[in-house]
Amino acid sequence: MTCVTPTTLDVTPSVLRGQLARWPTGVAVVTTLGPDGPVGKTVNSFHATSLEPALVGWCIDHRSSQLDAWLAAEGYVVHVVAADQTDLVTRFAASSSDRFAGLDWAPGLDGMPLLPVDVPLRLECRVTHRFAVGDHTYLIGEVVALTAAAHAVPLTLQR
Ligand SMILES: Cc1cc2nc3c(=O)[nH]c(=O)nc-3n(C[C@H](O)[C@H](O)[C@H](O)COP(=O)(O)O)c2cc1C
Repeated sequence: MTCVTPTTLDVTPSVLRGQLARWPTGVAVVTTLGPDGPVGKTVNSFHATSLEPALVGWCIDHRSSQLDAWLAAEGYVVHVVAADQTDLVTRFAASSSDRFAGLDWAPGLDGMPLLPVDVPLRLECRVTHRFAVGDHTYLIGEVVALTAAAHAVPLTLQR
């Protein structure tokens, strides 16, 4: 049996980021409609919040170039990414000015952008709570519509 000796590390932002990556998560692309058109980004802070009422959430880094659009957003769409959709993860994490280029998105609830791909789970949400905590802001939303592809396998990030 391998003997693993734990190491105590200083709690710095980079250590925390690196070590928290050892907590396995799924990955989602969240989208909303900003004043200048569709906005979207890759996130792994997406989480379940409450079943009754039906609430989910994710948090946005205050350094995001999209911060103003997200703080003003009244709703968003969560697209849970499938194991074979890593291209979506890359596209919506890249520092491209138009992450929607070439994507024929459709308007969903309140005109919010639905990506033209089948994902394991898609949630259309209206924002109910926003609160800043440290260097992120939580965006909690009520799930108003849910579309699931039962057999699609979600992508998991694990270090
Ligand atoms: C796997 C993964 C998970 C991420 N999770 C988040 C997140 O939860 N919140 C966030 O604000 N940014 C997250 N990001 C970063 C954004 O996707 C984006 O790359 C970054 O915010 C810079 O783009 P922006 O300035 O347009 O926001 C994540 C990136 C990756 C690759």
